[in-house]
Formats: sequence, structure tokens, C-alpha cells
Amino acid sequence: ATMHDQKLRRGNGGELHQVAEGTTPILTTAQGGPVADDQNSLKIGERGPTVLEDFHFREKIFHFDHERIPERVVHARGYGAHGFFETYESLAKYTRADLFQKAGQRTPAFVRFSTVAGNKGSFDLARDVRGFAVKLYTQEGNWDLVGNNIPVFFIQDAIKFPDIIHAVKQEPDRAFPQAQSAHDNFWDFISLTPESMHMIMWVMSDRAIPRSFRFMEGFGVHTFRFVNEQDQSTFVKFHWKPKLGLQSVVWNEAVKINGADPDFHRRDLWDSIKSGAFPEWELQVQLFDQEFADNFDFDILDATKIIPEEILPPIPVGRLVLDRMPDNFFAETEQVAFMTQNVPPGIDFSNDPLLQGRNFSYLDTQLKRLGGPNFTHIPINAPKCPFANFQQDGHMAMRNPIGRVNYQPNSWGEGPRESPDQGFRAFADAESGQKVRLRAESFADHYSQARQFYISQTLPEQKHIAAALTFELSKVKTPVIRERMVSHLLNIDDTLAAKVARGLGLKVLPSPADAAVSARHDLAPSPALSIIKK
Ligand code: HEM
Repeated sequence: ATMHDQKLRRGNGGELHQVAEGTTPILTTAQGGPVADDQNSLKIGERGPTVLEDFHFREKIFHFDHERIPERVVHARGYGAHGFFETYESLAKYTRADLFQKAGQRTPAFVRFSTVAGNKGSFDLARDVRGFAVKLYTQEGNWDLVGNNIPVFFIQDAIKFPDIIHAVKQEPDRAFPQAQSAHDNFWDFISLTPESMHMIMWVMSDRAIPRSFRFMEGFGVHTFRFVNEQDQSTFVKFHWKPKLGLQSVVWNEAVKINGADPDFHRRDLWDSIKSGAFPEWELQVQLFDQEFADNFDFDILDATKIIPEEILPPIPVGRLVLDRMPDNFFAETEQVAFMTQNVPPGIDFSNDPLLQGRNFSYLDTQLKRLGGPNFTHIPINAPKCPFANFQQDGHMAMRNPIGRVNYQPNSWGEGPRESPDQGFRAFADAESGQKVRLRAESFADHYSQARQFYISQTLPEQKHIAAALTFELSKVKTPVIRERMVSHLLNIDDTLAAKVARGLGLKVLPSPADAAVSARHDLAPSPALSIIKK
């Protein structure tokens, strides 16, 4: 189409038409047909019915009708930015991962920050975990480090994920609350799930109301593996440390900000990047071997535990800089598909049963959310390295094999081939055992690290935790749930438990939760676990 400057023309209904002239492109249909009038549908007579043959009208409305895709089942509200990762020194000793081979090497990155529980249109400053999902477009395929701003998780086994999420999101009959943990279902589930106690301490702390994305840490949470060229493995935990430090708001501020500016965190990231103040995080890793794992007090496969930094100091290995906002929110931030199973050669999984489950869930959910198996054809999800395979067809296929061959082996010498040397080789861990539905005894201690976290806080921070627990539990209408929570707190810190109990107006302190019962994950009848008749 020729380019035109626009000029104004008034239609016979008084409406203004902006008409192409000079450098303004001519408006076209999706099929490229030039449009003469975008203001009036085609009618039989000026006051008559619209005719079915008005293809421009039908196409415009049809497309609008289909603008929405399902929001993410969790982490629906998010905001992203582009940037790069830069490696400080070669980590070749530990990993063959392409991005860690040379000092100064840069890898393009896209990061999406999110809340977990709220819907897409919810407010930014909910008390919630924040997602910290990083896509690194390495020269050997995309690596997605899909983390949170809290280093532990609510549950130990992915099979419980639908339950915790159902419990935290809106209740099915009343369809509220949204983006609030202060409700009976959430605290009911938590009080019946002792393994969540460590995470609950973090979620009730100031970490759950960050001042902005720029002042948050990020954590890969699980234990992963680095694997080097000699196929030797080192366990690794990943941490993102913000250059600006860690800052939060207090609850009263959060409540006001949510009312005054629900887009507070979005605006902050947009404004800072647009003004050239690029936020930066350092990637730090905790590296350890099997012997350390065997001697550590907790199970390194248990996502409800950290490895304290005093015991195993993190090593800085690179930096992440966010320096460009997306051109289009939907195309990039909404359509980006993070998946824990996206790992390049040199990075591998551990047996963490939460991670193992996630590795199924993300691929599965993208199929539904992005409408088919070809979501890697969307530019934000496509690798930025050469890639070739025999996948073909399906809805919205943008790339099909070129030429005669769409299989291998073949005799035509066409198409890509496997590479035993360069390709991904799963770490050959020795596994054996009976097929059982059991949780290891080493996953059983649910209170020690919760206590460590609470004690590690400064006095004002401890006060905030007590206030948050009191406030949230005061919204819970079912007395036995409140008491059950206090019975867990008694296993964490007596003073904290007493403070919360007083704040809730409990006349007598309940007895501490039976740590042995919770350790065995045994929901055998116990007064604290009795069923509540509605
Ligand atoms: C989405 C983190 C556990 C299933 C996300 C996102 C993050 C995240 C950051 C948002 C990604 C984005 O910005 O697009 C985590 C962390 C977990 C965890 C750190 C535990 C350590 C799980 C588990 C499951 C799960 C156990 C299921 C078994 C999902 C699903 C989505 C999601 C289905 C939506 C993905 C999408 O539609 O794009 N998670 N998650 N997550 N997570 Fe998780």
C-alpha cells in the first residue's frame, strides 16, 4: 500500500474520518484489502439492517470477539522486561552450560515478575509470593529459571499443588476473595498442612509486600545440578540478589497503595527502565556435592528447606540487567511461556518431587493457554540460537520442515541429525527402589527452619510477622482453624504464638500441634484435625 499523510474528512453522520495521505499507511483488513470507510457498516438504506456481506465489519468484530486467551492458572498478574545476563568468570569446571563458559559472555534474557493468587486484573501490592521467572536465550537452547522471591515453597510434592492453589484462590461458591490470603479456606488448608509452616513465616513477613520488583530477591528454590563436560555433577541452588538491596512497604502502605494505584509495581518498572535506571541482579549459586548433601541436617530435595548461607556461602557468577520494556504487553509478557523443563546441556534436575511435577505441568498448561503445540513459534518463546527438528503442522504452524524429508534416519542426506557430543545428556544418576507412595522420613521436620527464619528477623520484622498473622487469622471465621494455627506457632516460637493468641482473643492456649503426627504426614484423628461441620 502507498503511504499517505492523514487528513480529516467529515462523514455524512458528522463522524471524523482520518484519511491516508503522504506517509500514513492505508488502513487495511487482515487480508490486506484497503478500507474506504471504517466508521459505518454496510446497510440497506441509511436506517436499514446491516448486510451479511460486509466482510470488513464481520472481520473487525470477529477478531475483537476473540482477543482474550485464558489467563495463567496461577501467576496471572505479571509484568516483564527484556535484558541480558553477563557471566563473570568461566564455570566450565562445574557446568558445560553454554552461557557460563566465558567471562563477559552475554546472553539475552526476558524476565516476568508476578503475584501468584490474584487474577490478571488484581492489584500489585497483595500480600503474596512474587514470581521471578527468567528466560535465558542461550546458544544451546532456552533455559527457564522459573523462580519466586521466596526461597522455599508451601508443599513438598507436586501432587498437592492443585489443592494449595484451590485453597488460596477465590472460593468456588462465593467467588471471593481475590488476591487475599485472609480467608478460611486458605488457612484451613495451611493449618492442615504442617509442611507449609516455613513458607508461611516468609509469606507473613515483609518479603510478601515488596516495595517494587527492583527491590526483590529471586530464588530457583529447588536443588538443580550442574553437569560438566566430563559428565560430573555438582548440586546447585540459584539466587538472584538485587543490586538495590531488599525493600518492602508496611501493610498500611500496601493497603493505601492498592487503592490509589493498583499498577504500582508495573509503573515502577516501566518508569525506571524508560528513564534509563536499569535494575540489576547478581546471580549467586550455592554449590555442593553428594557428601555435603548426605551430611546436611535437612533433605536437599525438600523444597520447604533452605541451605543457610552461613553454612554454604553463595558465590556470585554473573549479573542480570533489565534494559528494555516490551513493545507490546500481550505479544511478549502475556504470551511468554516459562517452563522448568527448559534446561540447556550442563544444567539438570534433581529428584525434588515438586520440581519433577512442575516439569510436566508447565508444558501441559501452555498447550491450553496458548492454544496449541506451536507456541514456540511465537517470537518471545522461540530460541535465539539455530534450531531444527522434524516437528510439523498443528494449529498455527509457522515453521514446517523444508523439502522432502520430515523424518530421520533418511537416505536423502537431508535435515538435522543428532549430536551425541553436543546434545543434552541426562545425568546418569543411579536410582533404585520399590514403587511406593511414601514420603521420605528426611522430609519430616516442618518447624525447625520456620523457627530459624523467625529468630533471624530483626525485632521490627518479628513484630510485622506477628501483626500479619494476627490480622490474617482475625479474618478467619472458623475458631478451630485459628486455634490450629496457634498450635503450630507453638512449635515455632512461644512468644510469637502467645502474641497471636492474645491478638485473636483466645482465652486459653491450645496444646502444640503433634509434631510427630505431622512428621508422618498422618492425618489420623486428632482433636486438632477434627472435621468441621458447616
Ligand atoms: C506459573 C513459580 C510450583 C504450576 C508460575 C510462574 C512462576 C512459578 C514464577 C509464572 C511464570 C510466568 O511469569 O509466566 C513456581 C515456583 C514453584 C512453583 C517457584 C515452586 C518452587 C509449581 C508447581 C506447579 C506449578 C508445583 C504444578 C505442579 C504452574 C503453572 C503455571 C505456573 C501451571 C502457569 C504457567 C503459565 O500459564 O504460563 N510458577 N511455581 N508451579 N506454575 Fe509454578
